[in-house]
Amino acid sequence: MRVVAVMNYKGGVGKTTLTANLGAVAASRGLRVLLLDLDPQTNLTFSFFSVDEWHDRLKDSRTIKQWYGTESPGNEVSLADLIVTPERANHVLKETGGQLDLISSHLGLIDIDLELAARLGGTTTLDGSKRKFLDLHGCLRAALEDGRFSGYDLVLIDCAPNFGLVTKTAIVASEQILVPAKADYLSTLGLDYLAGNCGKLVEQFNDFVNHKGGSGGHRAIDPSFLGVVFTMVQIYSQQVVLAQHTYIEEVRLNSRVPVLDSKIRNSPRHFGDAGESGVPAMLGASAKDEVVREFDRLADEVLGALALPSGGHR
Ligand SMILES: Nc1ncnc2c1ncn2[C@@H]1O[C@H](COP(=O)(O)OP(=O)(O)OP(=O)(O)O)[C@@H](O)[C@H]1O
Ligand SMILES: [Mg+2]
Repeated sequence: MRVVAVMNYKGGVGKTTLTANLGAVAASRGLRVLLLDLDPQTNLTFSFFSVDEWHDRLKDSRTIKQWYGTESPGNEVSLADLIVTPERANHVLKETGGQLDLISSHLGLIDIDLELAARLGGTTTLDGSKRKFLDLHGCLRAALEDGRFSGYDLVLIDCAPNFGLVTKTAIVASEQILVPAKADYLSTLGLDYLAGNCGKLVEQFNDFVNHKGGSGGHRAIDPSFLGVVFTMVQIYSQQVVLAQHTYIEEVRLNSRVPVLDSKIRNSPRHFGDAGESGVPAMLGASAKDEVVREFDRLADEVLGALALPSGGHR
């Protein structure tokens, strides 16, 4: 099982679209994929379930809010009990042998995130506060060690556009971080800051793991950046438009975060009605569409870097 966090501080850069569609392409190649929606905006969840379905079947008992919202995440509700199988997407996948499951988010997760962060301050001893830091930041990682997750090849975590405690639990749980970005000044501005903050989190976590007072069963972490994927790229005459090309090269040359070769073009025709059908656009689109080929190349690149069997092109 490989765990990848999809994150960027910047909102609206295509994180959720990329998570849903990359997961779908990986599943269409026969992989077992779990998507984890950690964004209180709940957009990934609503890409697979209608608002009515979510209200009737998930809201009160099967969302990540119930898990993070307990006194000690994981002690009362088991993360694996929250897994749901979106029917419409899996109906399309049934010939492929792949599987696309989801753990749903909840709009109330925003309050839980703040409560969790407040809990960090409640301990007076140094050993106690280090232990609390490890238990809270390491909770998702520990939960994913449940044997019921071992059947998944790939877990993709869709993070909120912030660096709150819930996002930090995703970083700690992940081996790799994928960073969707638009090729413009504001979207690329925060990349090094993001890398710096992830680095600081890893350093602090590992420092506490090695603390003489005991790690409480937590092990050191070493997540790395799989890279930046440029999304919503403007293509004109088969070429990336000059202004965006300049930003992409600037990041490639100067950023601490590597840049993947794959890019995803701007395609309102495919992504304009995000989610309404319950089936990620790449599962329904024609194999001739350029954006389908781009997602195929991205899947090759990501699955290859994760040493997962990437299957053939459709
Ligand atoms: N390649 C694309 N072409 C055209 N539109 C796109 C593309 N990718 C995403 N979009 C659209 O852009 C908007 C933002 O995308 P998305 O929700 O995936 O971003 P996000 O980074 O997850 O946002 P947030 O930070 O709010 O969670 C959505 O309306 C989506 O449908
Ligand atoms: Mg999103």
